[in-house]
Amino acid sequence: AIIYRKDYRPFAWLVPETKLDFELGLDSTKVTAILSVEPNPQAEASGRIRLNGDGQAPLSVKVDGEAVNSWSVDGEDLIIPLSAESHEIEIATQIDPSANTQLEGLYASNGMLCTQCEAEGFRRITYFPDRPDVLSIFSVSMRGPADQFPVLLCNGNEVARGTTDDGIGWADWHDPWPKPSYLFALVAGNLVANSGTFTTMNGREVTLNIWVRQEDLSRTDHALESLRKSMKWDEEVFGREYDLDLYNIVAVSDFNMGAMENKGLNVFNTKYVLADEDTATDADYDAIEGVIAHEYFHNWSGNRVTCRDWFQLSLKEGFTVLRDQLFSQDMQGEAVKRIEDVRILRAAQFPEDSGPLAHPIRPDSYREISNFYTATVYNKGAEVIRMIRTMVGEARFRQGTDLYFDRHDGEAATCEDFVKAMEDGAEVDLSQFRLWYSQAGTPKVEASLLHSGDTTLLALKQEVPDTPGQSRKQPMVVPLKVALFDRDTGKHSGEQLLILDEAQKGFNFTGFDKPPILSINRGFSAPVTIQRDVPRDDLVFLAANDDDSFARYEAMQELVVGHLVAAARDSLSDTERTAGEDAIAQAMRAILADEALDDAMRGELMMLPSQTYLLEQVARDGATADPGTIHEQREGLKALLGARLAQPLRDIYERVANVPFNGEGARGALKVKTQVLTYVAASDPETAAELAARQYDQADNMTDRQGALMVLCGLDHPERTHKLLDFYTRYRGNALVIDKWFTLQALSLHPDALEHVKALAEHPDFNLKNPNRVRSLYMAFAGNPYAFHVESGEGYRLIADLILALDPINPQTAARFVPSLGKWRKIEPNRSELMRSELERIREAAKLSRDTYEQVARSLDG
Ligand code: ARG
Ligand code: ZN
Repeated sequence: AIIYRKDYRPFAWLVPETKLDFELGLDSTKVTAILSVEPNPQAEASGRIRLNGDGQAPLSVKVDGEAVNSWSVDGEDLIIPLSAESHEIEIATQIDPSANTQLEGLYASNGMLCTQCEAEGFRRITYFPDRPDVLSIFSVSMRGPADQFPVLLCNGNEVARGTTDDGIGWADWHDPWPKPSYLFALVAGNLVANSGTFTTMNGREVTLNIWVRQEDLSRTDHALESLRKSMKWDEEVFGREYDLDLYNIVAVSDFNMGAMENKGLNVFNTKYVLADEDTATDADYDAIEGVIAHEYFHNWSGNRVTCRDWFQLSLKEGFTVLRDQLFSQDMQGEAVKRIEDVRILRAAQFPEDSGPLAHPIRPDSYREISNFYTATVYNKGAEVIRMIRTMVGEARFRQGTDLYFDRHDGEAATCEDFVKAMEDGAEVDLSQFRLWYSQAGTPKVEASLLHSGDTTLLALKQEVPDTPGQSRKQPMVVPLKVALFDRDTGKHSGEQLLILDEAQKGFNFTGFDKPPILSINRGFSAPVTIQRDVPRDDLVFLAANDDDSFARYEAMQELVVGHLVAAARDSLSDTERTAGEDAIAQAMRAILADEALDDAMRGELMMLPSQTYLLEQVARDGATADPGTIHEQREGLKALLGARLAQPLRDIYERVANVPFNGEGARGALKVKTQVLTYVAASDPETAAELAARQYDQADNMTDRQGALMVLCGLDHPERTHKLLDFYTRYRGNALVIDKWFTLQALSLHPDALEHVKALAEHPDFNLKNPNRVRSLYMAFAGNPYAFHVESGEGYRLIADLILALDPINPQTAARFVPSLGKWRKIEPNRSELMRSELERIREAAKLSRDTYEQVARSLDG
């Protein structure tokens, strides 16, 4: 069934209090739920109550203490007739956590019990109005074998705990804050904590715990430190204070997503908790800091103010992603973080917006809400709120968020509530801006400069492409930061914020004798694509001189994208090819030589646009792309740059290789080092193998070691086998590092990558039940621009087979693989047909989950 946003109705009942009792066991847990209910004055009265279930059967049902048998079952739901007054409902059910391979609800992982309830997992634990607008105060009692479950955790505060004479451990917990069921969490297991404290701005002493298995304890300091930093930052920047005496984080190794913000008891994928220098890269450290912050920030944007219904998901996710991005900018440096965030948006969200799964950040309908935890809802959602911040400035933005938190504290709110609070608090009219919430698709902005006399006209045109179910769209509000560089002085006289809010708009600038050089969408002020005809030399100038780091990066990207797209479309004459190559080499040479540039930024500037992004660009405006050609052209350019810049690359490698780990500028140095190797690998594989093998052997940290191994993985060289074996032996038993070992091979551009992946799927360490392991092999492979697209279609078949095998085990994770095949319309006809027919084959399979069915159907019909 399709669920529509317009059909929202408040629930007929309030549930002020919920008491849960758990008799815990890995393969059998008995749950007794006592719900106090009363008619909701805001809703139409009803003579019955509908409680959601999923795979449940009631053992007993009582109303006001009396057993009743007047209940019925409608689909998965339990219906109990009830007179329109206050009642107490008691329901007992029994579940099997160890059989729960979907990892939603209560499940077993590594001998412990844990929960994941967002979005609709609570109904797999007990019958309940499992919707985010029903807020209740939860009290929980639990007990189980003390040797198996010495630690018993739940939301809020621990009230009491003990062990009975016959070895049964028990604990009572109470959460004073009313919350929807999706924020419920319970953990039982043999865990130890890295503990600390944080004193809030009003003097509340908060105990912080990072709970892990004993053998992981030494890798939890960074997570704990990240939590402290997040708490401090949210007080300083958003005025948000923590509201309990306890903050627990538990790391589990089987988890469908990154982490979950359950009130007072976050459950995390181990990937976003555990780190030390020997096993985690700089990028891993940053990701942990970012996800810890994200979940912490949800305590206000998500928990204190939650969502009315799941169509409002971006209310908490978009806003919280923006908050974690701003935090990470402050921790790690604004320039590089912004570039990384835009790269993610372009790699993950732009393809969504231009494909069959396109949807607005506030969707209008869905079959399975799990399919809408997307880059659009999260990352584009963050960009939309960032635009408001750009338009009103930081101070007024803060007034807006203060008003939002104040006005809606304790409520289940909507995106509209957020926008209204921004309008009132930041004093801004957002009527037209609201289109960003309802219109899908990445707007295209065409920019051209017309110069005459001393006047320059910047002419802007916008168009929002059609998306499934949406055509003929309204012009959006597009805030564009621009600067015009004077050709003679090489300087600009200040950045301006232009608001493009019509289909076409012109802006005049005076004071230029010669046509100026345009720097546009600085800082990526709007999530749009800019199309412009710009002389190559101007891009070379901006790539070397733009004072906005994002714009500087963007100029380099534009230079390369323009060249490679033309090359891939086979529309480059020999002279144009030479001119393009010369310009790119010249710009890259300047980047390598620029002594004022820090290495972290140099590393960004050296990165060529990904093949995925290039494919999107080639396939623009209904054209199709040949992944094979794009791959060849991109590799060709890398080899050319490697050869032409061999000397400066070698020089810079020697310099950065001597920066001591943990010394000043070490992070940037490590980044540049591996970047250099990727160029050398393309032009001079023998030298690259030698350098990479040495880098691998001398590495005293995972960033260096992984970088070297990544380069070796792409080479047909004996060192590849040696180091892969060494890496495996060295880290055997460390699941997160072995994930890297799978990923590096699955991502590699080695000619036999497809064969390697097939062999790895048979490896004893491969396991279809562990999402991290599945993703480490197959998500990496589905993103491998070369191997996934081999002409035979074997790559497509591999992913389709995986989806079919995984669907009965873990439908949520299985459905995440569908979009890779869903790109078929953008690909050249032969491959396109192979991709489409794999989707058809999946659709025809018996007993497909709702998750996978919805994604496949949308991909085929969209
Ligand atoms: N709210 C979590 C976050 O921090 C994600 C949970 C998603 N769960 C799911 N079943 N889709 O972003
Ligand atoms: Zn989130």
